[in-house]
Amino acid sequence: MSAVKIKEGVYWVGVVDWNVRSFHGHTYNTKRGTTYNSYLIVDEKIALIDSVYAPFSKELLANISEIVPLEKIDYMVVNHVEGDHSGAVPEVLKYCPKAKVIGTEKCKLGMNKNYYGSWDWQTVKTGDKISLGKNTLAFVEAPMLHWPDSMFTYIPELELLMPNDAFGQHISTSKRFDDEIDQGELMDEAAAYYANILLPFSPLVLRKIEEVVKMGIKINMIAPSHGIIWRKDPAKIINAYVKWAKNETTDKVVIAYETMWKSTELMAKTIGDGISSTGVKVVIANISEVDKTNVIKEMLDAKGYLLGSSTHGNDMLPALAGFLSFLKDMKPKGRIGAAFGSYGWAGGAAKSIESVLTAAGVEIVQPLIQCQFVPDKAELKKLFEYGVEFGNKIKKSDANCVFCKG
Ligand code: FEO
Repeated sequence: MSAVKIKEGVYWVGVVDWNVRSFHGHTYNTKRGTTYNSYLIVDEKIALIDSVYAPFSKELLANISEIVPLEKIDYMVVNHVEGDHSGAVPEVLKYCPKAKVIGTEKCKLGMNKNYYGSWDWQTVKTGDKISLGKNTLAFVEAPMLHWPDSMFTYIPELELLMPNDAFGQHISTSKRFDDEIDQGELMDEAAAYYANILLPFSPLVLRKIEEVVKMGIKINMIAPSHGIIWRKDPAKIINAYVKWAKNETTDKVVIAYETMWKSTELMAKTIGDGISSTGVKVVIANISEVDKTNVIKEMLDAKGYLLGSSTHGNDMLPALAGFLSFLKDMKPKGRIGAAFGSYGWAGGAAKSIESVLTAAGVEIVQPLIQCQFVPDKAELKKLFEYGVEFGNKIKKSDANCVFCKG
């Protein structure tokens, strides 16, 4: 795609990756593809804010060249060292001999270790500014949002925030702005992005938003490094981040399981029916069949987590084990849960699940429930009642906002 003017003197020169379907080492299913956004600021001095994933270097260089000759770039700002944004930096710098590289001290260390380039560096920290002429680049360090090196770049004269990964979404589209695409699709992808990337850093997200508010930074456009640019309603994504970072949940249960011969699946559905009869919303997912990125997104606003597996070798099945390992890393707060599962001659899966849920910080509110082989009529009744009990606990639980408890 060609360059797009987003404000006076500011151009999107990024690329659309229509075909990527797995990201971050298969930890994220990008079902709608993604974009790598790079921004060119044309003033008395010229700055490029972030680059793109290395295989798209030529597209980036072509987009920049539509606006200015490459050798005129004065600053290459690297907000974040991860390869999807810094990958094309070595190629860009080959054509920009006078460009100074700008980033945090940790970014410089990471860039040197990744690319071994001998570039002219200027490291920056919160409060540092670089004048481009009419406009100023102001920097705000954002450690662990979502890497230690992460930084936001802000142009006060344009009230434009370029926060790199924060406020992004994995969407490939020919449209560049929030008012040009379906709002349901947009917020669905923004939620998936938060749940799968930023959830573990929620306390830092809240602190950073408070810090930015205290600094009196005015924002009328947020231009992240993935997906669409928030120009119509940047407050919409800021408010959503506050809600997600506070771990605000609804009366909803996610039942995620893996099944060998469908007994655990029958358990999941019967427990789900019991929960549903209390009026609580239920989402059921066979983790070996469905999009795990979407299940984690469903868990973002769910108050209850029920995890189940058939027993194999006295433990849970491998796809669920992998999913739970990822869930533990996401550090969900204020959730209640329980474990279930079927077995042949000896159990073990439900016990293992319960211990991982506990390690993940989920409060276990019901003893685990197991069935040998296929649940019989009496066991199905028990499973339904188990669901009813869990549904009633969801309705009574005050776990809907751990930060709001003070
Ligand atoms: Fe942390 Fe989009 O890379």
